[in-house]
Amino acid sequence: ADDTDDGELETIVAGTNPGFEPFQMNVDGELVGFDVDLLEAVVAETDGYELADDWEELEFDSLIPALENENIDVIAAAMTITEEREESISFTESYYSADQSVLVQSGGDVDPDELEDLEGLEVGAQSGTTGEGIVEDELGDDVDYTSYDNYVLAVEELERGTLDAIVIDEPVAESFADDRDVEVAFTFETGEEYGFGVRQDDDDLQEALSEGIAAVEESSEYDEITQEWFGE
Ligand code: ARG
Repeated sequence: ADDTDDGELETIVAGTNPGFEPFQMNVDGELVGFDVDLLEAVVAETDGYELADDWEELEFDSLIPALENENIDVIAAAMTITEEREESISFTESYYSADQSVLVQSGGDVDPDELEDLEGLEVGAQSGTTGEGIVEDELGDDVDYTSYDNYVLAVEELERGTLDAIVIDEPVAESFADDRDVEVAFTFETGEEYGFGVRQDDDDLQEALSEGIAAVEESSEYDEITQEWFGE
């Protein structure tokens, strides 16, 4: 939908699923993170759009339905561009690249080196994520799998020792390893690319956001936002 009259900005509503640090999380009741700052900078680069102040915070696997139902207009949730998701939504150009890691309890007895070492163990991931897809596709019935609504819940079980391992995006694994009693056992290459998700008929928005990503990457802003959230 394009409501833009000359000079009028179309307000778009962003949706995310917090608990995925440092991309999106609640700190002191406020939604913050890399994706939050990046999408704000990207939308500011566009001519026709402005971002609504309030973001919708939803379950990860409710984001695509919410986009399709027009409850939100853009997904900014460290969401990997996949062919399966592209059957129902469109993505912008990639704004971040990631692989997957396996997280375990710090100093625990479980110390896997490769995916096959998870056989026979209790493994968790967040519902609807690519991490969950890897467990299902690569390990199937060989592991005792639990699906969590949020990765934070899975990390807490790992800290308590009631779960053996989690499959999760590498940058997020590193961030949890910094703040909690968990460590990265190993990382494996998946070559995932994160994109902002838009409705398939929203070509104008898709193009505007992709151009905005390129502009933010060319300016110093992308590096500043990376520095802020990754300290790199
Ligand atoms: N990149 C992974 C995926 O697309 C995990 C994303 C999880 N994001 C979140 N906000 N919880 O499936």
